Amino acid sequence: MDDKGQITRDGIRIYQEADFAGMHAAGKLAAQILDEVAEHVFPGQTTGEIDRMIEEKVNAAGATSATIGYKGYKHASCISINHVVCHGIPGDKKLKDGDILNIDVTVIVDGWYGDTSRMYVAGKLSRKSERLIEITHDALMKGIEAVKPGNTFGDIGYAIQSFVEANRMSVVRDFCGHGLGRVFHAPPNVLHYGRPGSGPTLEEGMFFTIEPMVNLGRPETKVLADDWTAVTRDKSLSAQFEHSVGVTANGVEIFTLSPAGKFHPTY
Ligand code: MF3
Ligand code: CO
Ligand code: CO
Repeated sequence: MDDKGQITRDGIRIYQEADFAGMHAAGKLAAQILDEVAEHVFPGQTTGEIDRMIEEKVNAAGATSATIGYKGYKHASCISINHVVCHGIPGDKKLKDGDILNIDVTVIVDGWYGDTSRMYVAGKLSRKSERLIEITHDALMKGIEAVKPGNTFGDIGYAIQSFVEANRMSVVRDFCGHGLGRVFHAPPNVLHYGRPGSGPTLEEGMFFTIEPMVNLGRPETKVLADDWTAVTRDKSLSAQFEHSVGVTANGVEIFTLSPAGKFHPTY
């Protein structure tokens, strides 16, 4: 084994015990920034201003934004409102009362990547949006519960998909989670749907994200002319939550836990 560590036959890097501390620090900063941004989400606020504050917080922490300069992307966050599934670009658009939005932040701390997103509401949350957000959050947590050595990536996808569909919502297929660590996007593709026992087997030391996108309507998406913004084809509302996790000897460590306990939508 060289000093880069092991790679499985599926191309998945196995990190060492000491590497968990690096991921913990990066994940904690990303989560803390999402905590701090909550009070700045309100009707009339622009997503550009929220992004500007996020960039400032990343810099103030002495960290680096992983998204600025990534494939030509220019912002420190993705902000995806209502029927935007993911990769919404911050801008001059003002939030309206009842808008639901995902804010996704990825930071680099000492070379380690922390990637997390969660849902927010501007003003008053409707019952139907609340239900979508709650199911999406719980779907992520059910996926995380399936993370332990010996289970497979298909077990994660199955846990998410079966829960979402039992609640008569749909799982987006066009985007997936990803390995991360000292890089932003690495093998494997972490699918949010699948069959029990399918896919690579989980091993201690694997680091990856789980980031299900759930639609109230059909799962199909399309990307707008800006080449980033993904929306639901049927214009139905979409929600997403994302954690960065590591497989431990007995289960899972969530690197992006909210220091303020503000991840769950009913905080
Ligand atoms: N943070 C996103 C993810 O979860 C990726 C955003 S890439 C960007 O993988 F360029 F759009 F910011
Ligand atoms: Co991600
Ligand atoms: Co992300």
